[in-house]
Amino acid sequence: MSTAILQKLNADHKSIAKVLYCLRAQIKGYDDPEVEPNIGQIMDILDYICTVPERWHHPVEDILFTRLLEKNPPHPEQIQAVMNEHSELERLTQELRTAFERVAMDIAVPVSLLYRTATLYLSRQMLHLDAEESVLFPLAEECLDEDDWADVEEAAQQVLDSLDNNAQREYDNLRDAIINFADAD
Ligand SMILES: [Fe+2]
Ligand SMILES: [Fe+2]
Repeated sequence: MSTAILQKLNADHKSIAKVLYCLRAQIKGYDDPEVEPNIGQIMDILDYICTVPERWHHPVEDILFTRLLEKNPPHPEQIQAVMNEHSELERLTQELRTAFERVAMDIAVPVSLLYRTATLYLSRQMLHLDAEESVLFPLAEECLDEDDWADVEEAAQQVLDSLDNNAQREYDNLRDAIINFADAD
């Protein structure tokens, strides 16, 4: 069974992963003199990763994973740990954004530290997406019944309806601009 909510979450992951790949390409510029990083593109990427998961993605996943935990799944502590990563990833994104804001303002930031921090950050983000796609989403498909999915869909829809549609369109456009910039490069 593939529900609308799982389709939405998987589609979000595809967008987030594409944007993370763009960040990885930019970050190379801090390790490889052949690559010139574009700070405007990096700031757009961090704006996207700061906002989209926080507003539209994590709240829906939190509803889904909370219901999953109620179904006595195996290894609940690992599911809880993935959920806890949401606030941690949001904090790390903010930290990275602050570091690049300093770069944008020409405040000296050690390049090797910036490169290491950004690289570690990218691998944590990727591992998080992977844990959800390979373990948590399939587990939810296995453990939740039709009534659970109906409840989750309704609660998720309420969250999504309460959010600003214009802002969502704005961030869809930002995502396209980020990806097109990388393609044109
Ligand atoms: Fe997540
Ligand atoms: Fe996710």
